[in-house]
Amino acid sequence: MPPKTKKSPTLSQIQRPPAEILHAAELQQLRDRDGIAPRPQNWQLTPRSVLDFILGNADLKIAPKFVGTRSLLERCIVALATNRGLMLIGEPGTAKSYLSELLAAAISNDSTLTIQGSAGTTEDAMKYSWNYALLLAEGATDRALVPAPLHRGMQQGKIVRFEEITRCPLEMQDTLLSILSDRVMAIPEMEDEGRNLYAQMGFNVIATASTRDRGVNEMSAALKRRFNFETIPPINNLRQELELVQTQTDKLLAQANIPLTLPPELTEILVTTFHELRTSKTSDGKALEPLSTVMSTAEAVSVGYAAGMHGFYYNDAQVTAEHLVQSLLGSAIKDSVEDVKKLQHYFNLVVKGRKGERWHQYYEAGKHLV
Ligand SMILES: Nc1ncnc2c1ncn2[C@@H]1O[C@H](COP(=O)(O)OP(=O)(O)OP(=O)(O)O)[C@@H](O)[C@H]1O
Ligand SMILES: [Mg+2]
Repeated sequence: MPPKTKKSPTLSQIQRPPAEILHAAELQQLRDRDGIAPRPQNWQLTPRSVLDFILGNADLKIAPKFVGTRSLLERCIVALATNRGLMLIGEPGTAKSYLSELLAAAISNDSTLTIQGSAGTTEDAMKYSWNYALLLAEGATDRALVPAPLHRGMQQGKIVRFEEITRCPLEMQDTLLSILSDRVMAIPEMEDEGRNLYAQMGFNVIATASTRDRGVNEMSAALKRRFNFETIPPINNLRQELELVQTQTDKLLAQANIPLTLPPELTEILVTTFHELRTSKTSDGKALEPLSTVMSTAEAVSVGYAAGMHGFYYNDAQVTAEHLVQSLLGSAIKDSVEDVKKLQHYFNLVVKGRKGERWHQYYEAGKHLV
């Protein structure tokens, strides 16, 4: 049989390269700076460089990636160097997954050891399974074993990411218990020393859970004890959120080969709308009815991206307030009739009175809110 050759796609063809590939140059720069400086065993970077990679460092020209406080991030990094896992919880779209990816990329130079939690998550998908042809031919050997993320993380001393852990049935969460406390995985099918896989230094787990999913599967108290919890808050500084939405939207548009950027006045309208609806309060203190839709920063970015795309292809590359309103319906509000009504109310109560041509156009475009 001729050898299978797979042509790997170039970076620009990959929809979403993992952080360690996307930021390979920055990670290399930090590794060079670190040299042989002390760090937790098997970490690719020192804890200080992990922080610089994620929050940015102007002197080193490292771009900031996650918006959050330094103290929160320091606690996350320290937790990963201890014998407990790190649990990131918060509202949807607050960058829990993104932060866990950045941490794994910085610490292990590999963010791909990821288990996706769902009702159907099995032990095989977490620990290991078998290549049955090899299993029958040679028995339970290393070659016949197909490692899943936990196995690989323990063997290679890397960070394993466990997404949406509370969506997993409790039995599956329990699988993690012994691994997190004893740091050993039993492989009963194997013989002799193969029966136990001991975790290498550097192995740890970052789990994420959305507060909206609570109650689907409550986490057991035993598992809770094996994690340090950190709550990731939404960005509450309007200026920081504006900057983030602008850069991320423009980056997505550039990746899609769309030669335009979201006009800053529109970004301001977009982020202000999200901010006010999320906090149920306008900048001048008026109370608003809370929406059931999560008005997260991640959603704001997707509204901006869709509006840019819409304007480029259907309006001679001009993005207008109308595109924002249309994307707001499709990308953010989705199917909630109640929320559309509340949004109409927001337009009549708040947007109508705002000064400036763009706000006026935005209000006019509100007629699409049906
Ligand atoms: N504090 C933040 N710093 C950087 N990006 C942020 C921040 N908050 C939100 N974002 C945006 O959110 C996107 C990532 O969202 P992500 O999927 O990681 O959220 P999540 O909290 O895991 O959501 P979910 O609960 O739905 O899984 C980022 O790409 C970025 O555009
Ligand atoms: Mg997530």
